[in-house]
Amino acid sequence: RLEESKSVVLEKPTGDFKRIKIAHGVDTRDQPIRVQGWVHRLRSQKGLIFIILRDGTGYMQCVLNGKLTQTYDALTLTLESTVEIYGTLKALPEGKSAPDNHELVADWWRCVGKAPGGDEAFTNRVAEGADPSILADFRHLVIRGETASAVLKVRAAVMRAFRAEYESMRITEVTPPCMVQTQVEGGSTLFKFDYYGQEAYLTQSSQLYLETCLPSLGDVFCVQESFRAEKSHTRRHLSEYTHLEAELGFVSFEELLEHLEQLICGTIDRVMADPAASALLKQLNPGFQVPKRPFMRMDYRDAIKWLNENDIKTDEGKDHVVGDDIAEAAERKMTDALNVPIFLVRFPREIKAFYMKRCPEDKEFTESVDCLMPGVGEIVGGSMRMWDAEELLKAYETEGIDAKPYYWYTDQRKYGTCEHGGYGLGVERFLAWILNRWTVRDCSLYPRYTDRCTP
Ligand code: 4AD
Repeated sequence: RLEESKSVVLEKPTGDFKRIKIAHGVDTRDQPIRVQGWVHRLRSQKGLIFIILRDGTGYMQCVLNGKLTQTYDALTLTLESTVEIYGTLKALPEGKSAPDNHELVADWWRCVGKAPGGDEAFTNRVAEGADPSILADFRHLVIRGETASAVLKVRAAVMRAFRAEYESMRITEVTPPCMVQTQVEGGSTLFKFDYYGQEAYLTQSSQLYLETCLPSLGDVFCVQESFRAEKSHTRRHLSEYTHLEAELGFVSFEELLEHLEQLICGTIDRVMADPAASALLKQLNPGFQVPKRPFMRMDYRDAIKWLNENDIKTDEGKDHVVGDDIAEAAERKMTDALNVPIFLVRFPREIKAFYMKRCPEDKEFTESVDCLMPGVGEIVGGSMRMWDAEELLKAYETEGIDAKPYYWYTDQRKYGTCEHGGYGLGVERFLAWILNRWTVRDCSLYPRYTDRCTP
């Protein structure tokens, strides 16, 4: 049959076959159309070939019959080959099922690019249950899968929703630089590089730049990659992650917390109102529940008490004491036990960044917040900022930071200061929470983490 098939030629039909994207199929039933895409699934049965075609906008069942199934390409067709199919979309009778309840009855088709079979076949590359490091090497193929592509689609919808939510609050988007000469979150996680002979870093956070925008643009936000040379090999740490940050002027700590609730809940409401995104979200995380407001507020000192009362130890197996940086495992156990969003507030000064405003009632603590979500733990870190120049200069000194490169940040307190605060939200952590993913690595297009910078 293979030999014979080489002489089978398909005659291309004349007439106007409208090129459509799969997602628009429902509107173009019973008309001549053509679609292009990748062979997602393939099955031969009783002289017919069934293809589930994928073009990124959706999936479409296509059926080839008669001579169309007898060509060399038909007999040797493989998963992930690209094809173009001409035909008519027909609604499926009751009792049969396919995406959008229709199928493309083909008049003509061609193979545009054949994918390999045998050892190199797609299914051998991304075999289910394969070693994670092999799957990481083949991430460029893994993203073609239904789960990975669904995560990426929800990610796009989430980014749209965040932007729409900011737009509705009249908060302006800016794009701060990635290459910087100041640190924000401590020297130990800085990626250094040579900048025309000077030391420079990949940004850890755009916060300092956002603060300078307040007098210029009012409240601002940005979506920027942040970089951390993390020593921690955990399922929620990346070396490069997408950081959604905002800075608000003339706010109190409580107003900052209320704004955060609105951002998180408003964004989720928008995603749930988007039919395609909410269907994917439900498919990935059927148990997802929209969080209720107000979020639980928990003082850091009460968290320490709670951990001890519930016999949750430090990584070293000890009881927690005030001053401890609550480790990921303990934080996760507490969040999962309480099983609601938590604003953990007022962390001790010594475990937090130099710029955080002290609590008026006790200067050893800061007006700071971590937002913890079940399944992931911390997804947001934020605080009120010191807004007095003298106090900030003292804080640089205490931290052993040279104030000189920060002159522009300090000027913020000199040229018309105001009470202000802001936060950073880890987009991959937010997604891991709403999509119930085991690791943030699954929520990044090409995740970077210790020892992984490819593909
Ligand atoms: O708590 P962080 O370090 O706070 C800041 O960078 C502030 N300067 C932000 C601001 O106030 N503008 O980081 C904020 C958030 C964390 O809550 C977490 O969600 C995420 O960024 N994050 C990471 N996500 C993935 N991998 C990492 N290595 C991360 N480090 C922080």
